[in-house]
Amino acid sequence: MQNIEEKLLSYAGKVEHFLSQSISTDDKDLLSLYASMRYSVMAGGKRIRPFLVLTVSKMFGGKEENAIYLAAALEMVHTYSLIHDDLPCMDDDDLRRGKPTNHKIYGEAVATLAGDALLTGAFELIAASGLSDKAVRMAVLTLASAAGADGMVGGQVMDLSSSEQKEQDFNRLIKMHSLKTGALIAAAVKLGLLAAENEKEADRHALTSYARYLGLAFQIVDDVLDVLGDEEEMGKQTGKDKEAGKTTFLHYFSPEEAMQYAKDLTDLAKGCVKDYENAQTLTQLADYLLERKK
Ligand code: IPE
Ligand code: IPE
Ligand code: MG
Ligand code: MG
Ligand code: MG
Repeated sequence: MQNIEEKLLSYAGKVEHFLSQSISTDDKDLLSLYASMRYSVMAGGKRIRPFLVLTVSKMFGGKEENAIYLAAALEMVHTYSLIHDDLPCMDDDDLRRGKPTNHKIYGEAVATLAGDALLTGAFELIAASGLSDKAVRMAVLTLASAAGADGMVGGQVMDLSSSEQKEQDFNRLIKMHSLKTGALIAAAVKLGLLAAENEKEADRHALTSYARYLGLAFQIVDDVLDVLGDEEEMGKQTGKDKEAGKTTFLHYFSPEEAMQYAKDLTDLAKGCVKDYENAQTLTQLADYLLERKK
């Protein structure tokens, strides 16, 4: 059996090839916009979300040539969220995926617009996939609602206002993490099921529950790595949450307690898919994300 790192690399290569082909232009007037989009998309990253789309699609018999459209679309939305997250008006970060942040190279206006173009381009990709009209419609709905006001964008707004709140209620923190990070991770498994044109409610319930626990654990580990992680290895600045007065898991727990919480959530995630014979990759991924150093 391939280990999880090999599996991640193999799918990342396919997704990157597809993204590189999808985000290109011959129009000289648009070269700097495309350069800015490609700069962040092609900068690496773990490619966890597209990996989940492709893995779930494969688990349920989907064709990779269809699933890759949804996988790439999700990675485009995620990358847009990172470009905007790093802007001076948001987290004001200088380093992302081991390189200067997009606005440091292209300026704030182009970085903002590159993010916009990645967001809208994602929906063009979904529409261009060879899936049935119904699956395309459901995929558009799934990604739009996960990315929007009741998903990632809503979570980002809660995150930005968290520094103004003296005492953030713990439930609000869970909600914020679930929206800003969990929503796109849950969208990944839903898109995987749609790529396989699988409409079984039991599968959707099991996989979405898996992703919800996984997404929450993922953001808790991100919070811990902001304190304990190595800037070089992670390719992004550390110590920023505290500096910005953000409420994170470490407001309530020591790093060790937070990691135990993340481990409990990881075990719950794995439990959600235990009845599937071919869920080893999902189980391996959950363990890998808990132990990651970047
Ligand atoms: C970073 O996401 C933003 C969060 C939601 C914590 P990732 O850790 O998946 O970033 P990349 O894609 O690997 O750069
Ligand atoms: C960002 O959360 C989540 C997004 C929607 C981009 P963070 O602000 O904690 O992500 P990093 O630590 O900058 O990657
Ligand atoms: Mg942020
Ligand atoms: Mg940030
Ligand atoms: Mg963070």
